[in-house]
Amino acid sequence: MNEMTPPKTERTAALKGLGSARKRVEDARFTQGKGNYVDDIKLPGMLFGDFVRSPYAHARIKSIDAEKAKALPGVIAVLTAADLAPLKLHWMPTLAGDVQMVLADGKVLFQGQEVAFVVAENRYIAADAVELVEVDYEELPVVVDPFKAEAPDAPVLREDLAGKSEGAHGPRRHHNHIFTWEQGDRDATEKVLASADVVAEEMVYYHRTHPCPLETCGCVASMDKVNGKLTVWGTFQAPHAVRTVASLISGIAEHNIRIISPDIGGGFGNKVGVYPGYICSIVASIVTGVPVKWVEDRMENLMATAFARDYWMKGKISATKDGRITGLWCHVTADHGAFDACADPTKFPAGFFNICTGSYDIPVAYLAVDGVYTNKAPGGVAYRCSFRVTEAAYFIERMIEVLAIRLGMDSAELRAKNFIRKDQFPYHSALGWEYDSGDYHTAWDKALKAVDYEGLRREQAQRLEDFKAGKTRKLIGIGLTHFTEIVGAGPVKNCDILGLGMFDSCEIRIHPTGSAIARLGTISQGQGHATTFAQILASEIGIPADDITVEEGDTDTAPYGLGTYGSRSTPVAGAATAMAGRKIRAKAQMIAAYLLEVHDDDVEWDIDRFAVKGAPERFKTMKEIAFAAYNQAIPGIEPGLEAVSYYDPPNMTYPFGAYICVMEIDVDTGEHEIRQFYALDDCGTRINPMIIEGQVHGGATEGYAIAMGQEIAYDEMGNVKTATLMDFFLPTAWETPHYTTDFTVTPSPHHPIGAKGVGESPNVGSVPAFSNAVHDAFRAFGLTQTHMPHDHWRIWRTAHELGLHG
Ligand code: CDP
Repeated sequence: MNEMTPPKTERTAALKGLGSARKRVEDARFTQGKGNYVDDIKLPGMLFGDFVRSPYAHARIKSIDAEKAKALPGVIAVLTAADLAPLKLHWMPTLAGDVQMVLADGKVLFQGQEVAFVVAENRYIAADAVELVEVDYEELPVVVDPFKAEAPDAPVLREDLAGKSEGAHGPRRHHNHIFTWEQGDRDATEKVLASADVVAEEMVYYHRTHPCPLETCGCVASMDKVNGKLTVWGTFQAPHAVRTVASLISGIAEHNIRIISPDIGGGFGNKVGVYPGYICSIVASIVTGVPVKWVEDRMENLMATAFARDYWMKGKISATKDGRITGLWCHVTADHGAFDACADPTKFPAGFFNICTGSYDIPVAYLAVDGVYTNKAPGGVAYRCSFRVTEAAYFIERMIEVLAIRLGMDSAELRAKNFIRKDQFPYHSALGWEYDSGDYHTAWDKALKAVDYEGLRREQAQRLEDFKAGKTRKLIGIGLTHFTEIVGAGPVKNCDILGLGMFDSCEIRIHPTGSAIARLGTISQGQGHATTFAQILASEIGIPADDITVEEGDTDTAPYGLGTYGSRSTPVAGAATAMAGRKIRAKAQMIAAYLLEVHDDDVEWDIDRFAVKGAPERFKTMKEIAFAAYNQAIPGIEPGLEAVSYYDPPNMTYPFGAYICVMEIDVDTGEHEIRQFYALDDCGTRINPMIIEGQVHGGATEGYAIAMGQEIAYDEMGNVKTATLMDFFLPTAWETPHYTTDFTVTPSPHHPIGAKGVGESPNVGSVPAFSNAVHDAFRAFGLTQTHMPHDHWRIWRTAHELGLHG
């Protein structure tokens, strides 16, 4: 140290590293209209594609006549399955080991399915031409109810699978059955349930919904016939995986494919899969020799791209008389729609649903999931969720409430009684997971205290008396949730997508003047990676975050990674970033020792520099070291300062949280008012508290939408009833509740900086909190279970059925 050296606190603050509420660096662009989304990409001579889609949910295609469309001036081509068949591109693999039609091959299986692809000089001509394509359909019987799909006389939906008794995930027992996935100990669980003091049983339905990102899905495909290179700009959450899959199915060598995810306006799982629009645009560009753009509209997005949830979860939970949980049994009927296009790691056909024992120490459990085909759109993506964790959390948090009713117990007390204790971590769950760390009691006590839980219950009891005395028509519901997530897929040993191991990566280059660029295998869709990953690095290598550029999404420059979804970025790519930073630091240590003329072991790290041990006034800052790396000939050390890390996490991370919702319900109108929403999250080491708060606000708002109104609903003919934003609830600022956020910090023991993911947590935790509040409001009148979404009509109907309208 010398007199000019700023104090440690000042040097630490200047880095804006871990824990700093650094403002999002992305926002200067976004708030000034300088974002660069797919639809902003305009290339010379670019054509536009648009789909002819099926009006029927199930029909045979007798003929397609595109002559009138082709005759329209400005129309370049109309592609059908017959055109794609010689290229073997009329079907494509799904992420779940199934296959899916790119363009209808003989029949259609859901309303909105892609039938033909019109390519024209502009979007308007393409849309006009779509109307001119004449398709002769013969309607077939429709199956929208997953329970009826397996009836012996149910229509055969997937004729391509006729006679196949084995699917990608084992035996199929019926022509509309996809798989059965079993976990846990069935015999032991049934034995415990048979002799238990108390068994609560319930059917919990998590309805079909949709991620509905503000920017819909789209791409621009450009085949350069001169250099043989295909470039595709698209709304891809996993650009490298798209490149590999595109290479495998097109036969184009992978080095000749460049996938670029530019700015993405929200993904939430919707942009993980491969859609027919991508394939058709690529083929159209190859055929026409010019770039082709396809961007779907809102109705297409809601009707045809990946849905989420649609799980019917039958549960049984047993306990002793005093409320000690002894066993959990669950059977799920999973409605996958027309093709199994769920985006789950290969070995997990129901994702990580086997986290459904939640935050509780449940000695024995059994889970079976049956996937079935219906005449609905394919998908089954993790909508702001880590592979079915949201469904699992909703299931267990409803089952806890139902059990509390059976026991006549307060559900806060029931939870606390059964939480996994701090000293039990690492905890092995009955369904096979090893939870890395947790301190549930501390979080729970903090949450209950923060909202004055006892006081709320007193107020609720008084309100109930007033209601019964005719003094008010409003009830109070207190919705409790303690959730445990599993995020950060994942260890390559058990997590892959289409055979690609789910590691992630970071490559860092330090420039001679001491600034840096870091490239990652992930891709931000609004989560603020450019801000937070620079913070991780700042703390690791002592270069201010403001001097570090973070770049993602271009497969020609970024190292290979599996992308961003399921809150995996921080647990996996964030870890890779820290590890790459440590490699930089290790080399920097050798350079510093050389410059200071001491042995490597005689220098120590001090925030932004290496100093000689015992002589802190003798040091070299990272800036000086970076310059030396490029201008000094150091014996035994290569010039330059770069590092790359591919990180395969040893385990997933298990963030958790305690959410409490206080809701007022008007029994006469079914309207609700969120009076208070308290969200305590524990995501381990917090990189940027402000971004975490933003993530919680966003996720909880999506959770609010799902719980209180958002759904993809079908009529019996398979018509989508909610394909516009008039019918599909997307909360505006006006409806969005006010949130109070809070936290505890329980670091992950295996993550290099102790961080767990957080992006999905607020969706996972808030849905049961909102829903439990609705249920709780009616608990005194005998309600145990009613299905989401709790829109005004359904709440009114519940009140009516309970006899509250006189
Ligand atoms: O994979 P995804 O980016 O959707 O989720 P995430 O890894 O949970 O990160 C969401 C955002 O929160 C990123 O900007 C993270 O760096 C940030 N975050 C944080 O600041 N601290 C954590 N412990 C976890 C995430």
